[in-house]
Amino acid sequence: MNILLVGSGGREHALAWKIAQSPLVKRLVASPGNPGMAKVCELAEWKPTEVARLVQLAKEMAADLVVIGPELAIEAGLADALEEAGIPCFGPTAAAGRLESSKAFTKAFAERHHIPTARYRICEDAPAAKAALDDFEPPYVVKADGLAAGKGVVIAQDRAAAEAAIDDAFGGGFGSAGQTIVLEEYLEGEIGSLFALGDGRSSMVFGWAQDHKRAFDGEEGPNTGGMGTYSPAPVFTWDLVEEVRERLVEPAFKGIAREGAPYRGVLFVELMATRDGPKLVEFNARFGDPECQVLMLRLESDIVPYLMACATGRLHEMPAPRWRDEHAVCVVLATQGYPGKAEAGSVIRGADADFGPDVVVFHAGTSTGEDGLLRAGSGRALNVCAVGADLAEAREKAYGAVASIDWPEGFHRTDIGWRALAR
Ligand code: AMP
Ligand code: GLY
Repeated sequence: MNILLVGSGGREHALAWKIAQSPLVKRLVASPGNPGMAKVCELAEWKPTEVARLVQLAKEMAADLVVIGPELAIEAGLADALEEAGIPCFGPTAAAGRLESSKAFTKAFAERHHIPTARYRICEDAPAAKAALDDFEPPYVVKADGLAAGKGVVIAQDRAAAEAAIDDAFGGGFGSAGQTIVLEEYLEGEIGSLFALGDGRSSMVFGWAQDHKRAFDGEEGPNTGGMGTYSPAPVFTWDLVEEVRERLVEPAFKGIAREGAPYRGVLFVELMATRDGPKLVEFNARFGDPECQVLMLRLESDIVPYLMACATGRLHEMPAPRWRDEHAVCVVLATQGYPGKAEAGSVIRGADADFGPDVVVFHAGTSTGEDGLLRAGSGRALNVCAVGADLAEAREKAYGAVASIDWPEGFHRTDIGWRALAR
């Protein structure tokens, strides 16, 4: 098979790493990819939103399958254009992808399909939003409506902080994603990320993990796209997985199909395990980043038949995937300042050393110049991942590798997986 993989982050490096191991694959091209991915596949130059170019490339390489990594390609309608061209695609159409691209759409969707979620209000301007705070109690949850790379959420401890977040959002602090905001009831509980595959008709749970969204140790600092993950996560008991499948996953796939937009790809369910059962925090229309990294390390089955089955409506023929018993951990290394302003271009040394069979370093935002040095972008740069017999061993291996990477301008959290270890 020839496969085109779209994207350039750590998630896509992990997907490329796993796809490249499949005996079914003859040719794997990633666009635009990154220097780490260049070691496992060919790279093309088109960005995820260059839809016409990507469709052209898929035709030229006689792609049997296109795998979409990032949400921006989904929102840009890449799956729609591929469907028109008759090329199987793993990744939902723009209409189905609204489950991620608009929080306002998702909240109303959840209401229509009786999916448990936090009570909410949608606000179009700052005075209305400030008045609507009366309907909630602290801590206040203030969210930008559109895509904001996981950074468009503020949990405000008091009213003054909530009002400042509202002013910031309407003042452009979240970019164009902040023109509409969603206020939400604060959910008390433990967070979890569950993944489910869909092919428009059937669906299947496809792993789970826990992410650490805050920038600093002890869940301090601003929300990020994710600073580290581990899998399995003990918050996911079999009962919880079953309840999430029944109350969140099934109604979502059935609902979006009934609304005329059958969903082909992976649905990422971010949920809060509360005292009253699992509640939806948000849907994403793609694998989580960095959840995907730990899932790929633990996935024993060949991933390609699953991706293809989603794209071609044959998921019902697939057995449940097999997972390794080992635990996996991912530690994100980011440029100091992320998720705020951070200077791109600092040099990273030692990232491509051989750390042994249990450690894999995925590249996220990196580049190499003519001098051959590896340089970081202004955000998350590397994902240092490891597997071990238990979480403690996986962590030890991952942090051992982190310690030998020489990058003074970078930072990372030192407590990935603390909730599981504290149990
Ligand atoms: P999101 O971008 O919606 O995934 O939110 C980012 C983070 O904010 C989540 O991972 C949660 O930790 C937190 N969060 C979002 N919504 C809520 C809520 N309603 N109650 C409590 N925490 C929330
Ligand atoms: N790690 C959460 C996300 O991908 O948005």
